[in-house]
Amino acid sequence: MKKLNRRKFLASISGLVAANLTGLVKASNIAWSLTPTETEGPFYPLRAQKDKDLDLTRIKGESGRASGRVIVIELVVRDQSGKGLENVQVDLWQANAAGRYRHSQDKNKSPLDPFFQGWAIVSSDKDGKIQFKTVFPGVYPASNTWNRPPHIHFKISKPSYGAITTQMYFPSHPLNEKDLLLQRKTTKEKKLMISTVDKEDPDKFYYNVVLQKDG
Ligand SMILES: [Fe+2]
Repeated sequence: MKKLNRRKFLASISGLVAANLTGLVKASNIAWSLTPTETEGPFYPLRAQKDKDLDLTRIKGESGRASGRVIVIELVVRDQSGKGLENVQVDLWQANAAGRYRHSQDKNKSPLDPFFQGWAIVSSDKDGKIQFKTVFPGVYPASNTWNRPPHIHFKISKPSYGAITTQMYFPSHPLNEKDLLLQRKTTKEKKLMISTVDKEDPDKFYYNVVLQKDG
């Protein structure tokens, strides 16, 4: 190749590489879809409680442990490029293993669990991660003809990002297919709202929440 042509050739290749890299960067900025929102539901905790830490299976000062199957959830809060966001406040609440909320409006006949914390307000670490321990939430009736699948409610907020309220579901639960809330979502949205299970540990679940930056 003549020297001039070779220079032109190299310049055009480097231009292509630069264009592709720009494309990749642009693509990576929107690589993660925003987490769909969902109703808060009627059972957001009303009564103040001191213990709102990462272990929902025990209440500080009590000797017992919550009934049910103990599970661990690893939640990561990210921006749309996938970067973990630190200091995100996550307010989470759920029914106990029998499907009962500690809430005066919950008319379910299932028993309360005196050792179940049921509610936590926690913050993400520098990598956007929050790992909490809880019990697998029970199924409960939302009406005479509708049983809610196991789920955990989240309210998630960080200054400069849009706050969201949502519900996280568990993989392969048969009631997911019949739930009146989850079935309103598109196939893509459902996938974003259902956690995944660890390949080796059936009691560990992973969930990503993606927030939108303001402006
Ligand atoms: Fe609920």
